[in-house]
Amino acid sequence: MKLFKLLLKYFNYKFGISPKDEYVSFDSQSVYYGHIKIKYKGIQAIRCPFDYVMYQMIISEVKPDLIIEIGTNQGGSAVYFSDLMDALKIDGEIHSIDINNDAKENVQGYSKIHLFTDGWENYDLELTKKFKTILVIEDAAHTYECTLGAINKFASVVTPGSYLIVEDGIVSDINMSKDLNGGPLRSLREFLPQHPEFEVDRRWCDMFGKNATFNVNGYLKKLN
Ligand SMILES: C[S@@+](CC[C@H](N)C(=O)[O-])C[C@H]1O[C@@H](n2cnc3c(N)ncnc32)[C@H](O)[C@@H]1O
Repeated sequence: MKLFKLLLKYFNYKFGISPKDEYVSFDSQSVYYGHIKIKYKGIQAIRCPFDYVMYQMIISEVKPDLIIEIGTNQGGSAVYFSDLMDALKIDGEIHSIDINNDAKENVQGYSKIHLFTDGWENYDLELTKKFKTILVIEDAAHTYECTLGAINKFASVVTPGSYLIVEDGIVSDINMSKDLNGGPLRSLREFLPQHPEFEVDRRWCDMFGKNATFNVNGYLKKLN
């Protein structure tokens, strides 16, 4: 047996075949740990890789002239959206809202990006009036209260055919929702019956497998 194991080790070494290295293992928890390390142009840009692809497709289809991002953090995602809009020749703005100004340096030179640093609660919806096609991304504190408050406030400015994207319902799958008082999924369970003008777009949620996204049931298409 020992000799067999030694021979196998030598064989693997010699020919580079290692069944151990061919083992595939990932799940929402491992992707969660990975996604924290994601950077765009060197700026932290926390988002699930599957969702990056969906965002790219949605922005390319919807062509929003205003993207409202609730939760700027370091500004990596705002820069990503700005570059996408440029590549798609979309003339518009990104209103990225946070409770601090950590992204200030990182977004310098990106004229589409406007930072608001006083929380979504203090964003003036009047600022949306001049835009034709509005996409809203809720990616703030992920508590039940914060998520529900934000989506209730911004739902009315999403234009028909566009999306309200509610980030990070995945926290329920990785046992974090208790600390968030139920998190985004609890908010969605309350929000959706009150807002029949929105439907969960399964085309995105299930693109890579049932809710294989961090935005579990979080791609809400506005119907009218
Ligand atoms: C998950 S991070 C955002 C990640 C960012 N969108 C990205 O992709 O890199 C959440 C952010 O929400 C911000 N936040 C918390 N409460 C907020 C509020 N009431 N209004 C706006 N932003 C808030 C936090 O300061 C934090 O920077």
